[in-house]
Amino acid sequence: MATYDLVVIGTGPGGYVCAVRAAQLGMKVAVVEKNATLGGTCLNVGCMPSKALLHASEMFEEAGHSFAKMGVSVSAPKLDLPAMMNFKQQGIDGNVKGVEFLMKKNKIDVLKGAGKILGTGKVEVSADGKSQVIETKSIVIATGSDIARLKGIEIDETRIVSSTGALSLDKVPGKLLIVGAGVIGLELGSVWHRLGAEVVVVEFLDRILPGMDGEIAKQFQRILEKQGFAFKLGAKVTGVDTSGKTLKATIEPAAGGAAETLEADVVLVCIGRVPYTEGLGLKEAGVALDNRGRVQIDPHFATSVKGVYAIGDVVAGPMLAHKAEDEGVAVAEIIAGQAGHVNYDVIPGVVYTTPEVSSVGKTEEELKQAGVAYTVGKFPFTANGRSKVNQTTDGFVKILADAKTDRVLGVHIIGREAGEMIHEACVLMEFGGSAEDLARTCHAHPTRSEAVKEAALAVGKRAIHM
Ligand code: FAD
Ligand code: NAI
Repeated sequence: MATYDLVVIGTGPGGYVCAVRAAQLGMKVAVVEKNATLGGTCLNVGCMPSKALLHASEMFEEAGHSFAKMGVSVSAPKLDLPAMMNFKQQGIDGNVKGVEFLMKKNKIDVLKGAGKILGTGKVEVSADGKSQVIETKSIVIATGSDIARLKGIEIDETRIVSSTGALSLDKVPGKLLIVGAGVIGLELGSVWHRLGAEVVVVEFLDRILPGMDGEIAKQFQRILEKQGFAFKLGAKVTGVDTSGKTLKATIEPAAGGAAETLEADVVLVCIGRVPYTEGLGLKEAGVALDNRGRVQIDPHFATSVKGVYAIGDVVAGPMLAHKAEDEGVAVAEIIAGQAGHVNYDVIPGVVYTTPEVSSVGKTEEELKQAGVAYTVGKFPFTANGRSKVNQTTDGFVKILADAKTDRVLGVHIIGREAGEMIHEACVLMEFGGSAEDLARTCHAHPTRSEAVKEAALAVGKRAIHM
């Protein structure tokens, strides 16, 4: 029977980062993973493979549509999908190996198998019909999330797919019907649209990307429509007939009314994700869940059972890898007796499409609802020199600042590289900075980030290039 200071169940970005930080703090650590490879959803079937395909498909699209106007003459690009999937797999393998290396480097034991909590200080690890019980001072649950399913629509991962199947299609579907205009729908929709699929997105709400700033989402929808996306908002898919060669999806208005049928070769269901707690023995161990099936925690990530903590997708909050990572670090520090902490007001969100969408802090809708008086500063990329010369002028930067104190409350960007540009806003907000602070910070020329500075200047109605 081994004795550890900490056993982490799950090796996604929450779990493996927690393990590394705990080891850095001098703890004897083991991770338990039931999947064949380490890295969780993010590395195996989430962030990394989707970004590899987004990159490769963007290059394909650029070669076909953007090179010629820059005087780069190439013959029409041909898609080699198996090679593109191989490129994706190489990216996954490289990252998974990286996590294995980190485990070795930090002397963290990797226990392959399914973890089950037997109570304070005891974890059972089962694999291939055998099980062992591990003793440990603390346990961190980092078991992540699973796809949410639509009642009556069975995901076979071939024709009716979740994000996992959509990352591994063996041919470009002629028609791709996407259920849910959230992050997965728009990212994976972009991949297959660029590779030649006709894409229709059915969304229950009357807008895309719920949770993101409404003005940004509206512009994003227009840009995607210009690219060729079709949206059916305020609608839901209530069934898919799989009997024929093509799928026949029944679409109904969310508010009720006459149904219509849409044909598709592939249907992608991406209507959110749910916490994953199967087989963990939480009920028997007495670990309480909240009303949405997430592990309930206090502000220090402690569950209802002494010595058992939880982080990442399996607890409340945005289901994002960097949120899971930061919680992993914080909980390791708390277990070590330090003051670990996550600032939930400053967690960026990025949609890795073309253009990208990024966001941190409050949206305009949230400020209105909270009755906060705010000023808005906006700056379009059409007025940004670097964007002009590159002819990539779609989008704008929007900064929301407190009307009285000028403190920046939210930053929202739609445009190329928006995912990289958001971080200066994060740092600023982490330090409680004002729009004036950002406006007076020298930005290198010519960069797209100058648009962030100009938007900050625009908060005080003194943008220079507009
Ligand atoms: P996970 O990464 O889900 O890892 C949990 C691990 O626990 C898994 O390896 C699982 O096998 C293991 N496990 C579960 N139960 C047990 C058990 N009983 N015993 C042993 N092991 C167990 N987020 C971003 O921030 N950026 C992105 O670009 C992004 N892209 C995404 C794209 C897609 C297609 C998807 C699906 C998600 C994406 N996400 C992205 C979300 C991100 O993947 C998750 O927020 C993140 O992986 C959560 O990390 P986690 O450590 O909580 O859990
Ligand atoms: P999501 O929550 O982003 O979007 C789901 C969408 O489906 C919402 O717009 C919702 O209104 C809609 N919907 C729900 N039920 C519906 C129905 N019956 N019919 C039609 N529409 C319906 O969830 P998604 O896209 O599945 O992603 C899951 C999680 O993964 C998200 O929480 C996201 O944070 C994370 N993720 C993050 C990425 C990133 O950071 N770039 C990329 C991909 C995923």
